[in-house]
Amino acid sequence: MTKITKISDRADGIEKSITLAITELAYELSKENKPVISFSAGEPNFSTPEKIKQAGINAINGNKTRYTAATGTIELKEAVAAKLKRDNGLDYGAADIVVANGAKQAICNTLMAIINPGDEVIIPAPYWVSYPSQIKIAGGTPVVMDTDETTCFKITADQLKKVITDKTRALFLTTPSNPTGAVYDEEELAKIAEVCVDKGIYVISDEIYEKLTYGGKRHVSIAGISEEVKNLTIVINGVSKAYAMTGWRIGYSASKPEIAKAIGKIQSHFTSNPSTPSQWASIEALNGDETEIEKMRVAFDERRLYMAEAVNNIKGISCFVPDGAFYVFPNISRLTGKKSRSGIINNSADFCKFLLNEKYVACIPGSGFGLEGYIRLSYATSMENIKKGIDLLKEWVENLK
Ligand SMILES: Cc1ncc(COP(=O)(O)O)c(C=O)c1O
Repeated sequence: MTKITKISDRADGIEKSITLAITELAYELSKENKPVISFSAGEPNFSTPEKIKQAGINAINGNKTRYTAATGTIELKEAVAAKLKRDNGLDYGAADIVVANGAKQAICNTLMAIINPGDEVIIPAPYWVSYPSQIKIAGGTPVVMDTDETTCFKITADQLKKVITDKTRALFLTTPSNPTGAVYDEEELAKIAEVCVDKGIYVISDEIYEKLTYGGKRHVSIAGISEEVKNLTIVINGVSKAYAMTGWRIGYSASKPEIAKAIGKIQSHFTSNPSTPSQWASIEALNGDETEIEKMRVAFDERRLYMAEAVNNIKGISCFVPDGAFYVFPNISRLTGKKSRSGIINNSADFCKFLLNEKYVACIPGSGFGLEGYIRLSYATSMENIKKGIDLLKEWVENLK
């Protein structure tokens, strides 16, 4: 007799990503040879710089292909520590760093290391899609904290105080932000840090878009505000976005040694070390000169300004000009109730589905990031695509009835 199998409550409790539905529809349309323009990318459309690729190739040819320490090679951890000192003024030693399979795993490890069942973790909305599921997998309870456009979707210390309870264990802080592109400045972080220190809650500081800031805006890590908040902070970063290395899967966490030890233990049983050649390539990324990185940043900057201005020229849509990452996050709420060929637009998912069906332009509904009435457009695509896609968006929006 076959046993009836059942999936776990853990797997059952996490939702399929809403962004997946759009990605699947876009894929179906391209298979039918429809000219799909996608603004849904979450990764740079550049190739990994040659020197970094070469370092990976050299590692393979030099037989650096075996297991390393589960938490990463000492050489890479030292390169990360040097980077944190150089770019962020933060003092961490190699023992405080755990190299993971991308920032994503670094976050999952962190949650596993600091969360007990029932603990609450605050996520400011709009948030990166994976945070709620990652918290649930770790047995925690996500507490979504709404923000709004008046603060460019950044949380304030007063708002934070109101959502902290006896069960609050940690706060997610993402700067620069996916999906909004907002960047916190030092003064804002200092006020948030004060609350976290006062209440004794951890800060999971996701700084994966650190290198992508524009218009003179500088990334600041909350861990640099004071020694007290540094002790409560787990800095998350990696090479994916800055060095166009999404497929190499290298991220890391930096934290006080007790937490790093717990994170390392967890990773050692889950996955062991991240790919060895990728670790060697990442050393080149972190230690090498940043000419190629700067070229990418400048290209993103040009697209950012074009896209934000073009979106603001569409009647019924508006967005603030983001300071970081590679996304704009326009407000489409004034178009609710309008009608397209496909039907009445009731929410951001309808907006994205109908637009994709009618004009073959793919973007992501705000509901996927925990905020209705908005869409996310990625400018990690060519300027030519951006111009064509925004023209199509404008034509479609301005013909809604
Ligand atoms: C805010 C944020 N954090 C973390 C990640 C994960 O990055 P990685 O590729 O290093 O796992 C992403 C990727 O989209 C992201 O947007």
